[in-house]
Amino acid sequence: AMVVCSGTQNDLSTTGNSEIQYNLMRERYTGCEIVMGNLEITMMEHTRDFSFLQSIREVTGYILFAINEFSRLPLDHLRVIRGTTLYEDQYALAVMVNYQKEGQHGLQELGLTHLTEILEGGVKIIQNKYLSYAPQVIWQDIVKDGAAPIILEDNGPETCEDVPCWGPGNDTCQILTKTVCAPQCNGRCFGRNPSECCHNECAGGCTGPLDTDCFACRNFNNSGSCVPQCPQTVIYNKHTFKLEPNPDAKYQYGSICVSQCPTNFVVDGSSCVSNCPTHKMEVEKNGVKRCELCGGLCPKACRGTGTQNRQTVDALNIDSFINCTKIQGSLHFLVTGIHGDDYNNIPALDPEKLKIFNTVREITGLYILSIQSWPENMTDLSVFSNLQTIQGRTLYRGYSLLVMKIPSLTSLGLRSLQRINDGSVYITGNKKLCYHDTVNWTRILTSIEMGHVCDTLCSSEGCWGPGPDQCLSCKNYSRGGTCVPECMFVTGETREFADASGECMPCHPECKVQEGKETCIGPGADECVACANRQDGPHCVSSCPEGVMGGEGVIFKYPNKQGRCEPCHINCTQG
Ligand SMILES: *[C@@H]1O[C@H](CO)[C@@H](O)[C@H](O)[C@H]1NC(C)=O
Ligand SMILES: *[C@@H]1O[C@H](CO)[C@@H](O)[C@H](O)[C@H]1NC(C)=O
Ligand SMILES: *[C@@H]1O[C@H](CO)[C@@H](O)[C@H](O)[C@H]1NC(C)=O
Ligand SMILES: *[C@@H]1O[C@H](CO)[C@@H](O)[C@H](O)[C@H]1NC(C)=O
Ligand SMILES: *[C@@H]1O[C@H](CO)[C@@H](O)[C@H](O)[C@H]1NC(C)=O
Repeated sequence: AMVVCSGTQNDLSTTGNSEIQYNLMRERYTGCEIVMGNLEITMMEHTRDFSFLQSIREVTGYILFAINEFSRLPLDHLRVIRGTTLYEDQYALAVMVNYQKEGQHGLQELGLTHLTEILEGGVKIIQNKYLSYAPQVIWQDIVKDGAAPIILEDNGPETCEDVPCWGPGNDTCQILTKTVCAPQCNGRCFGRNPSECCHNECAGGCTGPLDTDCFACRNFNNSGSCVPQCPQTVIYNKHTFKLEPNPDAKYQYGSICVSQCPTNFVVDGSSCVSNCPTHKMEVEKNGVKRCELCGGLCPKACRGTGTQNRQTVDALNIDSFINCTKIQGSLHFLVTGIHGDDYNNIPALDPEKLKIFNTVREITGLYILSIQSWPENMTDLSVFSNLQTIQGRTLYRGYSLLVMKIPSLTSLGLRSLQRINDGSVYITGNKKLCYHDTVNWTRILTSIEMGHVCDTLCSSEGCWGPGPDQCLSCKNYSRGGTCVPECMFVTGETREFADASGECMPCHPECKVQEGKETCIGPGADECVACANRQDGPHCVSSCPEGVMGGEGVIFKYPNKQGRCEPCHINCTQG
């Protein structure tokens, strides 16, 4: 397999120490075939040996050579610059000011003897006093047709004889692979004949007409063949009528198809990425790390309060709790936080801001949830309505939940709280608080009595406050944390079914809404009573499979009169 290394993003800034810089570069690029990112070489003396660049065949970003004093660039095997990132937003190749201010050393030849394609971006070669060859090469043969800017200024005198060249040797003539092609070729060629066109998937040129004869691949290299996409992660199974995981799937890793992402890379859909995008999180399954969509907010752990400079949640630190799902440490609400602290110039906390804690599902780590002050007009702790667990460890005087002397409090509203792992609950001096007596704390404290005042939709297990959304469990059915008398089995725009736990769940969107009877028996597209659109095998689908990858090639189907998908005749190629 090809050896890949990552490039740099330094621009013209360096550490200032050329020895260190050089050694880092040698370590990074020795043996490397594909540079993922930019190749940047700046401020190097004439004595440096760059023969370690010989192995490089592709650079995915840009190449920058600036303010160097050496005479030749030994990039003899470089075929393609992809230009996925550009220098000054325009250039895939920038060669600038490479000569000694006082002395005769400087860049004389660009050793890019095999560079035949720049996929995106232009070329800027300026102020290279002794560079006499490269400026004369036919850049139109290399860059993309159209708008790529080519700037060649203040370089050495022209010296190539007869044909454009990269240097003085007779093996340094420019190899033309585009401007010399027959008009029939719609890209590159290996001769002037109309039969000598390269395959469309080739980049830079080729030695023959096949997708295995390319110098480099325009899109992806799948074990030697240039392909428009890597073998897909799902393929259509004609026996189950479903898209199923493809055992021969490969992932895009730069311009290569790989069956496994390299160490430190994560699978995101069909690509290898170094970090998951913001709305996804890293999940490890069967030893493979993947990016998966977060159900709601992505997990985010935040530091709690209770330390020297962070004794309580207050107006200055509350924003640090935005989007937190987990608090590591305790959460303290003290009077100096809620009402402000004149002595330390801390203003009072806007009660609206406490809603930030809606995202918190877990308090874990060291201490507790301690509420010793609360805004006067807030009658419950429902800003913590999603808090499920308090994992106490080193407990503050043995308490994990402490709610003390809050005169405004009439109910707790901690409707999701299911577990307090260690320590006890201390709720005292809250003059108007009622509902907490109905909660069976014994149950909560290990893994909740008759509710005289709980909503009628609550089961006999009790409640956290008034209303059907404060029940510990429901008498009939529930939907999204609120108890309901019935699911929308035969009414409503979105019809529902009830799962084993009594939760109302929507039918699959491909189910046809039924009048006077149930629409589905489960969540799947194969659990509908009837289909809204088409039916493929047992599954309701929006349209029949058209051009999806199957085990033995591409699959096309058409809907018959009943709307069922039937396979097209095997001799049909386009549906
Ligand atoms: C290059 O030119 C030199 C001198 O003209 C000649 O001796 C040598 O054989 C040539 N090399 C090639 C590969 O043509
Ligand atoms: C494709 O990758 C293989 C190694 O898997 C390598 O030998 C071959 O030269 C590459 N082909 C191109 C066109 O880059
Ligand atoms: C909080 O999450 C939302 C939704 O993911 C995002 O748009 C927002 O930028 C995040 N805010 C902060 C401060 O992280
Ligand atoms: C509490 O009072 C503040 C102003 O003092 C106001 O902004 C906030 O909306 C009130 N909150 C409730 C729940 O009434
Ligand atoms: C509370 O729950 C515990 C454990 O589930 C149970 O043993 C106890 O009887 C319950 N207490 C009441 C008053 O229902």
